[in-house]
Amino acid sequence: MKDFGEIKEQVKAKIAEVKDGAQLSEFWQSYLGKTGVISGLMKEMKSVPPEEKPNFGKAVNDVRVWAQELYQTKQAEIKQRELERRYERETVDVTMPALKRAPGNLHPITLIKQEMIEVFAGMGFDIYEGPEIEDDDHNFTRLNVAKDHPSRDMQDTFWLTEDLLLRTHTSPGQIRTMDAKKPPIKVLVPGKVFRSDSDATHSPMFSQMEGLVVDKGITLCDLQGMLDRFVQQIFGGGTKTRLRPSYFPFTEPSVEVDVSCFECARETEFLPGNGCPLCKGTGWIEVLGGGVVNKKVLENCGIDPEEYSGLAFGIGIERITMLKYGIPNMGLFFENNLDLLQQFKG
Ligand code: PHE
Repeated sequence: MKDFGEIKEQVKAKIAEVKDGAQLSEFWQSYLGKTGVISGLMKEMKSVPPEEKPNFGKAVNDVRVWAQELYQTKQAEIKQRELERRYERETVDVTMPALKRAPGNLHPITLIKQEMIEVFAGMGFDIYEGPEIEDDDHNFTRLNVAKDHPSRDMQDTFWLTEDLLLRTHTSPGQIRTMDAKKPPIKVLVPGKVFRSDSDATHSPMFSQMEGLVVDKGITLCDLQGMLDRFVQQIFGGGTKTRLRPSYFPFTEPSVEVDVSCFECARETEFLPGNGCPLCKGTGWIEVLGGGVVNKKVLENCGIDPEEYSGLAFGIGIERITMLKYGIPNMGLFFENNLDLLQQFKG
C-alpha cells in the first residue's frame, strides 16, 4: 500500500514556506490544481493492478483531503494576519491631540441683517425675498419710475437685456408682495442689490432691507415710530430719529431719515454735535430713505388708495454695519480679511 510519504514531506515543506496569498495559490496549482502533483497521481491508476485500484484510489484521495486541509488552514492564517495588519494600520490613537480647526463666525453683514430682522419681526413683520434678476416693470415702471423719467438716473443700472436687470434696490419686493397679498401687509424684504458704483462708501453689490406696511390709516407717524424703535435697538436706548424731506418716485411724501449721533452721545469727550468724527459735528447721521407709499404705486398693484395707505422704507445694511462698528470703508466687507472678520466672533 502506497502512503505517498515522499510527496507528503514535500507538501509539508512547501506549505510551511507559504507567506502570502500569491504563494498560497502557487501551492494550490503545484499540488491540488488540475495539473498538480496530487492530481497527477490519479493518472498512475492505469498501471495499478485491478485488485489494488480501490485502495490506491482511496489513498490518493486521502492525500488530497489532507493537503486540502493544510491549504485551508494556511488560508485562514493568512487572512487572519492580513486582518490584523489592517487593524494595525487603521488604529486611531485617541490620545493624540486633535488638529486645530478654527471655528468660523458669521460675517458682520449677516449679523446685522439678522439683528435687523429680529427687531422688525418683533413688530410683526413677515419676511419675503424676491429675485435678484428683475424686470423693468417691477424695478422701475410700477414703482412709478416711467421709462423716460429722469429719476431712473438716480441708480446706475446693470442691464442684462432690454427688459431684464440686476435689481437696483429691494423696492420691487413691494410690488411682488402687493401682487401676492391683500392688505393688511407688513413685510420685510432683505436682499442683495446692484449698482454700477464703487468708492469708499459704495460697492457694486450691497444689501438692503425693504420695509412695507399697507393698512387702513397708515401715516408717516407710524414710519417714524417703527424706525425709532429700530434705531434704539440697533444703536442704543437714547437714539432718536429726524425726518428730512426728500424725493423718491414711489413714496409721497418722501423722507431721508437721520439718527442722532450715538458716537458723541456715548463719548463724554465729544459734546453732541461738537467735533465728532462720525457725524462731522452735525449731531445727525443719515441712515435710510422712506416715506408714505405713493398712491400711484398702490393703484399699480390693484389696491384702492382711498381705502388703504402705506409706508415704505429702504435701509442699507452695509451702512448700518459701518456705523455700528466704526468700519470706515465699504470694500472691507468684501475683502475677506480675517483680521477684520475674526473680530465678530460671537
Ligand atoms: N429704494 C430706495 C433706494 O434704494 C430706498 C427707499 C425704499 C425709499 C422705500 C423709499 C421707500 O434708494
